[in-house]
Amino acid sequence: MNPTVASNGPVIDPDDIGTNTTTNPSFDSVVAARLSRRNLFRLGVGSAASAMMLSACGGGDDDVAAAPAPAPAPAPAPAPAPAPAPAPAPMAFNFNPVAKSLADALVVPVGYTASVLYRLGDPITNDVAAYKNDGTDDAATYDRRAGDHHDGMTYFGAGSNDKWDASASARGLLVMNHEAITPLYLHPTGQTSVGGVRTVAEEVQREFYLHGVSVIDVKKTGSTWALDKSSKLNRRVHTLTPMTLSGPAAFSEFMVTKYSANGDATRGTVNNCANGTTPWGTYLACEENWAGYFRRVTATDNAKRSAKELASFSRYGVAGTGRELWATVTPDTADNQYGRWNAEVQGANAAADYRNAANTYGWVVEIDPFSPTSTPKKRTALGRFGHEGACLGPVVVGKPLVWYMGDDSQNEYLYKFVSTKVWDAADATGGLAAGDKYMDDGKLYVAQFKADGTGVWMELKLGLNNITPSYAKYAFANQADVLINARHAADAAGATKMDRPEWTAVNPKNGDVYLTLTNNSARALASTDAANPRYYNDPKGAAKTAQRGNPNGHVVRFADANRDPAATSFTWDVYLFGSRATMSADINASGLTEDNDFSSPDGMWFSQAAAGLLWLQTDDGKFTDVTNCMMLAALPGQVGDGGKRTLTNIGSDGVSTKTQDTVVGAQATGTTLRRFLVGPVACEITGIAESGDGKAIFENIQHPGEEGKTATDPTSFGSHWPDGGTSRPRSATVVITKDDGGRVGV
Ligand code: FEO
Ligand code: CA
Ligand code: CA
Repeated sequence: MNPTVASNGPVIDPDDIGTNTTTNPSFDSVVAARLSRRNLFRLGVGSAASAMMLSACGGGDDDVAAAPAPAPAPAPAPAPAPAPAPAPAPMAFNFNPVAKSLADALVVPVGYTASVLYRLGDPITNDVAAYKNDGTDDAATYDRRAGDHHDGMTYFGAGSNDKWDASASARGLLVMNHEAITPLYLHPTGQTSVGGVRTVAEEVQREFYLHGVSVIDVKKTGSTWALDKSSKLNRRVHTLTPMTLSGPAAFSEFMVTKYSANGDATRGTVNNCANGTTPWGTYLACEENWAGYFRRVTATDNAKRSAKELASFSRYGVAGTGRELWATVTPDTADNQYGRWNAEVQGANAAADYRNAANTYGWVVEIDPFSPTSTPKKRTALGRFGHEGACLGPVVVGKPLVWYMGDDSQNEYLYKFVSTKVWDAADATGGLAAGDKYMDDGKLYVAQFKADGTGVWMELKLGLNNITPSYAKYAFANQADVLINARHAADAAGATKMDRPEWTAVNPKNGDVYLTLTNNSARALASTDAANPRYYNDPKGAAKTAQRGNPNGHVVRFADANRDPAATSFTWDVYLFGSRATMSADINASGLTEDNDFSSPDGMWFSQAAAGLLWLQTDDGKFTDVTNCMMLAALPGQVGDGGKRTLTNIGSDGVSTKTQDTVVGAQATGTTLRRFLVGPVACEITGIAESGDGKAIFENIQHPGEEGKTATDPTSFGSHWPDGGTSRPRSATVVITKDDGGRVGV
């Protein structure tokens, strides 16, 4: 839920604060064309698609990307023709569904085992003591401990030469994000603040290190996975790590700070949510709810700002005292470790303060895990917004590379970046230099979903699609300005407002792209559209507390035209709707049952070892009267395997109705969607990776017990997972294996 938890205060989900006040339609109201079934099926799996080498975000087998182009077909065999090979058996789940659960436990199927691998505070080097988990550990050790709120994660197979070896299934670098913190459990008695001022610098130092990214070297001995604390590849990237700004927005006036008068550098990364990969074995950490970390008191700062600056701040939500009050610590350090979080005008010019600091956040950050002293790069060509993740599309020699990206806030958009350079497999060992080649130069697009099941990618480029100096809401100066203010550019281009775009995932079997839309309490009866088609009430608990809008979320999928990731049009359908199994057919529109009903899809990833197996994770607060968050396994078909559908939505008065035409995929069944796991109390299930052979999956359990009330009263924690007893709960990575040593899931 990416929560801000005040010491004794309420949980606030920054994603629930929308900043899109445009009147952009939620769909193209002009197009009312009847759905063309033929058009949908025309884009089905074909020979071109099957010949593609595919990769996907977060994947452990990026070897497909490094592989050479497919060999030409062999010459026809001489007569007599061989007997046709038997068709492979369809994949089937190898576990029974796990029941919904409110227990403070991680529940996996019978025949499976989950083991805790890497918990908040665990040391990653031998010179750091075990975590006491009572808030008294020395702040200076936290740059060598696990961060908090484990999130998106990739397994990179590692060879004995300490290089990337995608085939390595018994040793790998596990790289993961640490999105945020639950402050209650990090200090002796929660966060210490007096009158809105943080008064204990050591607490803030801990929090600086608890954000960011972990790189840990994990090894399998027998059937047991463990962290190798002696590995020189273990690394923490955090809010104090130097970063290079790269791409078209680097060196621009908007990036100038006291830290970098050139505008080509910044410090740190924060609120890293989902992840991504590259075909050259690097990791992408995506900056999601970064805006709230900056202090900018509007009552005093607004008068010092231009209209353009105010429009930019407003569209991204840079306003307030800063969610963790980091800027309030005094005295500041000589290098402004605290003051750098103050985005107000204070000095004589931009090089004298941090008025532009927020412009250096909101990016996709590339990290080379196999080069522990390398400086991460923020790739500005991919645009600045609330980046959830960046999923790599099909990797084909001679074709551009593509990453699909969600902007997670209410009514925000779906984007993709297409490289200018075409893929050369020789770059598979190129490291960050390959990133410079493919990720600093390309086209950024935003999606427009049309009512007839088609869609258009609108390029975000100065001079195109209404993105001009005379655009009424934001006078774009140059392409750096367009990328830094990508949300304004997407508004100008007429993008479709979505129900909080979270993870994207690419099916290695056919290139279909999936997008989780977690939920949207701001969706109104009048504003449903074909791609966000539901408005309903999901009464919660015995009190039947109303939850209106689209509280349970859905999953949209699409196929770029002709299966070409550089295409500027696509075909889409709604793959799956979240719902309680007990709801009416207009709400439970995918036909979910007790064995697979869920709410608020977020994390999502296709296995590479078992092509076609999709893992779906939830970050939910709506269905939590019945069950904790979960992970499901799915065996989806393809875009167009369902058909046109009309849903009837009922207004908040219980009387008024609106019918909504949409396009849906095939109904879910017990053989295509099944609950695999349920987590402990008040956690989010997020982040998944697998060993190269698919026989171990790594899974993150984020913020168990996040609704705890008092640090000194264990009975208020709600969860004591994973250590049990009266312990403080800890975010953790678990490894899940099948007891018979087989592949996980199917
Ligand atoms: Fe950090 Fe959108 O979940
Ligand atoms: Ca989320
Ligand atoms: Ca997420």
